[in-house]
Amino acid sequence: MTRELRNAMSHFATGVTIVTTRFEGHDWGMTCNSFSTVSLDPALVLWSIRKESLSQPAFTQSGGYTVSVLASAQQHLAMQFTQGTQAERFHNVPVEHHPASLRPRISGSVAWFDCQLEQVVTAGDHDILIGRVLDFGSHDGESLVYSQRHFGTFKPF
Ligand SMILES: Cc1cc2nc3c(=O)[nH]c(=O)nc-3n(C[C@H](O)[C@H](O)[C@H](O)COP(=O)(O)O)c2cc1C
Repeated sequence: MTRELRNAMSHFATGVTIVTTRFEGHDWGMTCNSFSTVSLDPALVLWSIRKESLSQPAFTQSGGYTVSVLASAQQHLAMQFTQGTQAERFHNVPVEHHPASLRPRISGSVAWFDCQLEQVVTAGDHDILIGRVLDFGSHDGESLVYSQRHFGTFKPF
């Protein structure tokens, strides 16, 4: 069931993000494609984290997170932020720390959203992290796309 479900789900094309936070004096980050908009007024977003993820305490206890939407040229970062220690993930990766939240964002991303954690909803083997957007920004550029376990770019008709 799980394998077939994952196969079927993989047909839903998404963007690719790296979610980051600042916890116990360190930067934390992981690749995420469950990011979604929830509400415009107030501005709320969500993503879900596997409960067994080593980063789960950092994201649920730090009070907030930043979502960096990756550019098509940042595919290597999408892979880099799926494994290894946090120090290895951030090694040689340019980031900017938000002056107020101190959370890092990935330089060169096409958009970013700095969020305060509003609610954690436990749902099966994941936690849904609902955040209120405190600050955001975007740049022109091509977004990275993920579909059927492949990275690519979006081509308009
Ligand atoms: C394209 C892509 C999207 C991903 N999206 C998510 C996600 O939304 N939630 C999640 O928990 N893991 C997601 N992962 C897996 C995590 O990046 C990976 O399990 C995590 O970085 C492991 O970190 P840990 O050392 O904290 O356990 C995704 C992986 C890839 C390649």
